[in-house]
Amino acid sequence: MIMKAKISVNRSFVIGEADKNIFGGFVEHLGRCVYNGLYEPDHPEADQDGFRKDVIELVRELDMPVTRYPGGNFVSGYDWKDGIGPRENRPVRADFTWKAVEPNTVGLDEFIRWCRKIDSDILYAVNISTNTPKAAGELVEYANIPGGTYWSELRKKNGSAEPHNIRLWCLGNEVDGDWQVGHMTAGEYGRIAHETAKIMKLADDSIKLCACGSSVFSLSTFGSWDIEVMRHLFFDVEYLSIHMYFSNREQDLPKFLAVPEQVDQRISAAVAACDAVAAEKKSTRKIMIALDEWNIWYRGKISCAPEDIWQHGKAQNEEIYDMSDVLVAGGALLSMLDHADRLKIACLAQTVNVISPIMTIPGGGCWKQTIFYPFRETSRYGRGTVLRSVIDSPTYRMEGFCTGNINYLRSTVVWRQEENELTVFAINRADEIMEFTACMEKFECREVVAAEEIYHESMNAVNSPENEAVHPEDIPANRFSLSGDTLTAELKPLSWNMFRIRVK
Ligand code: AHR
Repeated sequence: MIMKAKISVNRSFVIGEADKNIFGGFVEHLGRCVYNGLYEPDHPEADQDGFRKDVIELVRELDMPVTRYPGGNFVSGYDWKDGIGPRENRPVRADFTWKAVEPNTVGLDEFIRWCRKIDSDILYAVNISTNTPKAAGELVEYANIPGGTYWSELRKKNGSAEPHNIRLWCLGNEVDGDWQVGHMTAGEYGRIAHETAKIMKLADDSIKLCACGSSVFSLSTFGSWDIEVMRHLFFDVEYLSIHMYFSNREQDLPKFLAVPEQVDQRISAAVAACDAVAAEKKSTRKIMIALDEWNIWYRGKISCAPEDIWQHGKAQNEEIYDMSDVLVAGGALLSMLDHADRLKIACLAQTVNVISPIMTIPGGGCWKQTIFYPFRETSRYGRGTVLRSVIDSPTYRMEGFCTGNINYLRSTVVWRQEENELTVFAINRADEIMEFTACMEKFECREVVAAEEIYHESMNAVNSPENEAVHPEDIPANRFSLSGDTLTAELKPLSWNMFRIRVK
């Protein structure tokens, strides 16, 4: 008997508008992300600023409206002032976090230029751990004050007459973790972050701030950190930042495929912490969630090769993604859409080479990893009104795992009102064919304008510079049909699928 699963949505039942910033990226001064990645001045594809045009083209394909920068753990030892002004005067520093050298060839002004080329805003993380609140204030002054002050005039002298207008800022990075240079307790962080936020908002009161939330589930402070930090920062920040990295170290595919449910749980926990503090403060203020680092990360070696220590642009944390990662990354994105009411920023970590959808060959070409595709398609066709759904699916049991019963079907429907289209995303997590039904109540469905799947018979299939084994393909018309408000389709085992339906 064929497995059957169904999603039902209704035009009137809405979760919220998907914020475009949930399709963000992340660029850290780490490994080959910046140097020998997006920046390679001697490369034949380099533009006049030293940025690779072929990489820019691929990043533009992903359409990332916001990019977190410059770290990551890197930022906690970084002084932004080292990266401005004439390059010959910039110091070469030791990056203690990643045991690398930071030449400071690329700094804020150069990175802003790159962001303009990819049409992205910046989510700038300030160094709260080993730098001062004053330095963070001066950074906002440099970036956002039009002129007439020391740092804003210096920006002009450095070639940017107009302010950079950076709207989104993180108050540090993963300060709850002992691996962080300048790790703090929640109380210490709350105090310093409050003073830093104060100076930054005095410099520009239109900016929006993210507080560091709990970064890793395994920390003993997980959860309580968020509440304590929010008690200090509730009226200072607009977002609580959380991070999630997924792995299949245990080689347990069903458990790995249940990552989207972990994301659900994690976002709900962060929302609950913020709302608990709102209750204490007797406030209706809603703090939004920024999942400003997320990806699959376990195969890539964390440290660089011994001979590469204290150098720059050497391979670190490079991961090769496979077909199973398509289902997990694609599912995580659906979970993010399903939390459109409170999740307003998410950044795929990272954008180039380092745990990334885009890989480059120094002096050579660049290529798309498997996870490039679910990200691109969700970014292109997942922006709109996310509909509340009811899923009726056979389940499998996850003992000891957060949610117990996991639906084989993970599916989300987005109503793209301006385009008069519904996008139906559906992931079949069963290792068998699924007869999928999507019932779109109160919509006048006209036709299926596109149907595509990402499927490979092997979960271990990977892409490479020579062979793009995993990529989207059209689903033949004989495998789906539309009748009234109901779409029926045959989904391949362990596959990612997307249907775009024209509606009136
Ligand atoms: O993205 C790689 C690292 O993961 C970041 O530097 C850090 O914030 C996280 O632990």
